[in-house]
Amino acid sequence: MCGIVGAIAQRDVSQILVEGLKRLEYRGYDSAGVAIYKDNAIHRIRRLGKVAELDEALQQNPLPGGLGIAHTRWATHGEPSERNAHPHMSQDNIALVHNGIIENHDELRDELKAKGYVFTSDTDTEVMAHLLHEELKTNSNLHHALFAATKKLDGAYGTVAIDTNQPDKMVVARSGSPLVIGKGIGEYFIASDQLALLPVTREFIYLEENEVAEVRRDGVTIWDEHGNTVTREFEVSDIQHDAVDKGQYRHFMLKEIHEQPSVVSDALEGRIVNHKIFVETLGQNANKVFEKVEALQLIACGTSYNAALVAKYWVEEFLKIPCLVEIASEYRYRHTAVLPNSLFITISQSGETADTLAALKKAKTEGYLASLTVCNSPASSMVRESDFTLITRAGTEIGVASTKAFTAQLVSLMLLMVSIGKAKGMDEQTEKDIAIALEHLPYEIQAALEQAKEIDELSKEFAEKHHTLFLGRGSQYPIAMEAALKLKEISYIHAEAYAAGELKHGPLALIDSDMPVVVVAPKDNLLEKLKSNIEEVRSRSGQLFVFADESAKIQETDGITVFPVKSEYSITAPMVYTIPMQLLSYYVALIKGTDVDQPRNLAKSVTVE
Ligand code: F6R
Repeated sequence: MCGIVGAIAQRDVSQILVEGLKRLEYRGYDSAGVAIYKDNAIHRIRRLGKVAELDEALQQNPLPGGLGIAHTRWATHGEPSERNAHPHMSQDNIALVHNGIIENHDELRDELKAKGYVFTSDTDTEVMAHLLHEELKTNSNLHHALFAATKKLDGAYGTVAIDTNQPDKMVVARSGSPLVIGKGIGEYFIASDQLALLPVTREFIYLEENEVAEVRRDGVTIWDEHGNTVTREFEVSDIQHDAVDKGQYRHFMLKEIHEQPSVVSDALEGRIVNHKIFVETLGQNANKVFEKVEALQLIACGTSYNAALVAKYWVEEFLKIPCLVEIASEYRYRHTAVLPNSLFITISQSGETADTLAALKKAKTEGYLASLTVCNSPASSMVRESDFTLITRAGTEIGVASTKAFTAQLVSLMLLMVSIGKAKGMDEQTEKDIAIALEHLPYEIQAALEQAKEIDELSKEFAEKHHTLFLGRGSQYPIAMEAALKLKEISYIHAEAYAAGELKHGPLALIDSDMPVVVVAPKDNLLEKLKSNIEEVRSRSGQLFVFADESAKIQETDGITVFPVKSEYSITAPMVYTIPMQLLSYYVALIKGTDVDQPRNLAKSVTVE
């Protein structure tokens, strides 16, 4: 959700800023801008559209300078337009970029207007620029002024500002929206994600909640929310430079789909020995807490929520304890009743999703045994806020539509389920069966990927449709939900998922010869039930596409196309059936010519409500 880059150096930073924005573009991509200090003034260029438009404008009007800030936007307040693009300025001397949402922007705007400030955009961010300008009248030092300004803000922000009167520094502040400071030699950088800065540094400090920092050419000073100086060392990141390189693939999404065999292997590395499962890195005393666990509460959004729903089937089958699953945006605002000895678990790729983070903060006051996050971003807010952590090891995911992060979440949730199970006395045979299934999973996923060509062919059947239904039963129902989410996200085809048994309670009315119905049909104890559901659709002339195990013996006939999927182990079948669903949505989107990696209206990390 929006991307921020800032730099202060002896050299020209304009290209560093643009390259940084390109690396963050997956987070937000409706407009972009830079503000660079040069010849005693701030010069600003903003463009509607992608960072390439801004790059082009800078090629035509180069703006070399040693101090600058930049932003790629995902609109919250004010339509995507050049006038709403960041940086926002106040009186020609302050420029400011912002991620997040300022909730009291209306009242602040009125106060600032009364003081004579003129607003040129519809954004909440412009309020911050003028507020900072106003504070500078009584606090001449930029970081003091920013500190005072942030005290007047309600909402979330990660922000960076520069001032023509103090051109030896950038000031930054964080509350609810991540910021990282990067260190070079005699130069420093700031970004909302370290990925933006990998071409220039590997040394990073993450700003903590409510901290303010001054970033100069010769160093960084950080203050906590009480104004005390904070000492923190830079740490060297091991993130791969090529994480933001598509390699041989046409899209990041396709690359990430194809990475899944190795993502699963990485998630399992060191965790299965002699068919026994060991997850040792959850945090101190995790086992002691697990022994006491009598219920789980899983909270997440979007794709991560679908992963949580799959885990519910596993937990209740193997641990025989209640597993409640809820969407974070609902949980955070409702009166909740906590089951005794419940463990609160958040699931998130980014670890920064505003609703999930807010749900976690709420849960900490509600009497849970402990909190645990299943997260792909080790330095994220959710990891810092949780008692225990399970890192999913999917690597950086750039495609806005989540693929490999989902599979890694499923694998991690299974490992977590076994870890809790073992602490509560899970028998060795069950552990062994699960371990064997997991060990085979990378190969099964690889085999599923090898069917990409056939799925590419099949996708033609969907590209002209306006709607698609996905059906599944048991732990494949959430896989049908995830398939529907993927299809609507990147191909813009309306798609819904139903538990197949629910069809006759309403959705059957939608079936006609123009309605493709995709069925996920592994060989499991629900297969015969599912076959009856398939018949219900067929007898109403629905157009069925059944992804089924060969042994399921579903006959291809008029109205039924059967696509074979090999999955030996029913417990890991949700992960295997996910692959053809991801490929299907990808190839449909390709035919439709949508922007696969950056679908319209979406952003990768949703750090605002
Ligand atoms: C869909 C997708 C989103 C995210 C959701 C939660 O492809 O990526 O639905 O899953 O925004 O994000 P995280 O997992 O970062 O909390």
